[in-house]
Amino acid sequence: MKPSSLLQALLLLPLAVADYTLSPRPRLTPMPYNPRVPFPNPPPRSLSRVCVVNTHGDGFTDDTYSVLFALHECNDGGHVLFLRGETYTIGSAMDLTFLKHIDIDVQGRIQFSNDTQYWQSNSFPFVFQNVTSFFKLGGEDVWIYGGGTIDGNGQVWYDEYAANIYTLRPVLVGIDGLKDSVLSDLVLRHSPQYYHFIANASNIVFNNIDIAGASTSKHSAKNTDGWDTYRSRDVTIMNSVINNSDDCVSFKPNSTDILVQSLFCNGSHGVSVGSLGQYVGTFDIVESVMVSNISMHNASDGARIKVWPNAPSAMSDDLQGGGGSGRVRNITYEDMTIDNVDYAIEITQCYGQRNLTLCQQYPSPLTIDDVVFRRFRGTTSRKYQPLVATFACSSPKVCGDIRATDINVVSPSGTSQAYCLNQEAANLELECTDNYKGFR
Ligand SMILES: *[C@@H]1O[C@H](CO)[C@@H](O)[C@H](O)[C@H]1NC(C)=O
Ligand SMILES: *[C@@H]1O[C@H](CO)[C@@H](O)[C@H](O)[C@H]1NC(C)=O
Ligand SMILES: *[C@@H]1O[C@H](CO)[C@@H](O)[C@H](O)[C@H]1NC(C)=O
Ligand SMILES: *[C@@H]1O[C@H](CO)[C@@H](O)[C@H](O)[C@H]1NC(C)=O
Ligand SMILES: *[C@@H]1O[C@H](CO)[C@@H](O)[C@H](O)[C@H]1NC(C)=O
Ligand SMILES: *[C@@H]1O[C@H](CO)[C@@H](O)[C@H](O)[C@H]1NC(C)=O
Ligand SMILES: *[C@@H]1O[C@H](CO)[C@@H](O)[C@H](O)[C@H]1NC(C)=O
Ligand SMILES: *[C@@H]1O[C@H](CO)[C@@H](O)[C@H](O)[C@H]1NC(C)=O
Ligand SMILES: *[C@@H]1O[C@H](CO)[C@@H](O)[C@H](O)[C@H]1NC(C)=O
Ligand SMILES: *[C@@H]1O[C@H](CO)[C@@H](O)[C@H](O)[C@H]1NC(C)=O
Repeated sequence: MKPSSLLQALLLLPLAVADYTLSPRPRLTPMPYNPRVPFPNPPPRSLSRVCVVNTHGDGFTDDTYSVLFALHECNDGGHVLFLRGETYTIGSAMDLTFLKHIDIDVQGRIQFSNDTQYWQSNSFPFVFQNVTSFFKLGGEDVWIYGGGTIDGNGQVWYDEYAANIYTLRPVLVGIDGLKDSVLSDLVLRHSPQYYHFIANASNIVFNNIDIAGASTSKHSAKNTDGWDTYRSRDVTIMNSVINNSDDCVSFKPNSTDILVQSLFCNGSHGVSVGSLGQYVGTFDIVESVMVSNISMHNASDGARIKVWPNAPSAMSDDLQGGGGSGRVRNITYEDMTIDNVDYAIEITQCYGQRNLTLCQQYPSPLTIDDVVFRRFRGTTSRKYQPLVATFACSSPKVCGDIRATDINVVSPSGTSQAYCLNQEAANLELECTDNYKGFR
């Protein structure tokens, strides 16, 4: 019989016949762009400090103690290894903001328990909206890779959320204050909500991440954004495949110097700035963002920027706002392939406001400037036909220098029209019309 993991951990016994090979650190090849600051490149960790994480391996007994033990034991210079073929059950919230100079080699499967009562009282609250997370990842010089799986056991959450929209669903990977770190070669499955929420981070890289997790019941997996960035800079997201049903990537307030490249997104709401300006008295900044080489399939949008106007507005009963200020500046979307996407491009500064007269009477105090869309190709869905795009500013005084060039996108009927409000039509290589067809 296996001794308990507690006993093993205390006696510092390696797992019986732990026959393992450490994964090599993934090589990061940024394509097509290099980030503004070089990727982290720390010296290798000590090979004499490898902590193999013990597991009960039965799929339900909590292994959190062993995980924390290994992470503390090999922090600051060592390796932590989750063995291939093993399942590790996490039934307790983990504060991982102490990590530094560590390689975490995830070859096995880490699965969060399905105790929704426990998680709702113990997951980590983030100050943004109602975001909470199973664990809080922070610190510096942390590398997580290995080809293994992190599974949020989301089905129980999808079903519970359908019965009660106030269910606090944790995000799978919650980051607060992480710097100079890399997450690469990971398979993420069935997050209860967003797959990543990235707050207070700088110089971090996501590479070769595989995201999917469809619901198997009639209740769909809602709000499963791939990545949301918040109060973060120098974040690179690249070479990844995302199959979800909300934003593929979303830039929330104070996201700057973000590089998103070489993604395959299916089923999403596109790569989105915002929504911003939702709350009166706030100042939201999204600036210097490059989104390049994206293939976008079965989505509501390709490239999107959504800003609330200066009049109280409502998307729905539980999504209302308007009146916040700030700026969106220096945003580039390029080389996007569109396949069955409702709008290839959608800019609105009237988010939540169906009355465009009202939107224009109260122009948004959140400005939009210097936005480029170039080299888009493909075919939209039928949804807004004959439109393939929409560009809606609340006033030319608060929104300008928006350019779309080399846009070879057509609707299924062959049209390439765009709804334009307060635009310099000469800057848009699309046929502007005033045929407004709304947005979702
Ligand atoms: C939760 O997980 C346990 C152990 O794996 C399982 O027996 C149980 O059926 C699950 N409950 C739900 C609601 O999925
Ligand atoms: C980020 O840092 C700020 C300032 O230190 C802090 O108040 C906040 O709680 C942190 N986390 C989030 C999610 O903003
Ligand atoms: C957060 O939760 C509270 C209470 O459960 C709810 O009233 C509020 O609408 C939620 N906010 C968001 C942004 O979901
Ligand atoms: C992607 O999501 C769709 C819709 O939710 C689902 O039907 C499909 O099985 C998913 N693909 C994978 C690889 O999980
Ligand atoms: C964003 O940055 C601006 C300018 O520094 C600041 O006023 C604002 O409070 C920040 N917002 C958030 C959510 O951190
Ligand atoms: C674009 O992304 C695809 C993966 O989706 C990749 O195979 C290709 O090499 C990338 N092209 C460039 C120029 O980076
Ligand atoms: C893409 O999403 C559609 C539904 O939107 C689904 O039918 C299809 O299986 C998904 N493709 C992949 C590769 O998961
Ligand atoms: C605009 O953003 C790009 C990244 O797309 C960056 O290289 C450039 O320095 C930024 N320009 C300014 C003026 O901030
Ligand atoms: C898009 O969805 C359709 C069905 O809804 C599916 O057949 C197709 O494979 C999906 N595209 C991709 C790239 O997965
Ligand atoms: C839209 O707002 C304007 C200005 O406030 C108002 O006169 C008009 O009646 C509104 N239209 C609708 C359909 O509510």
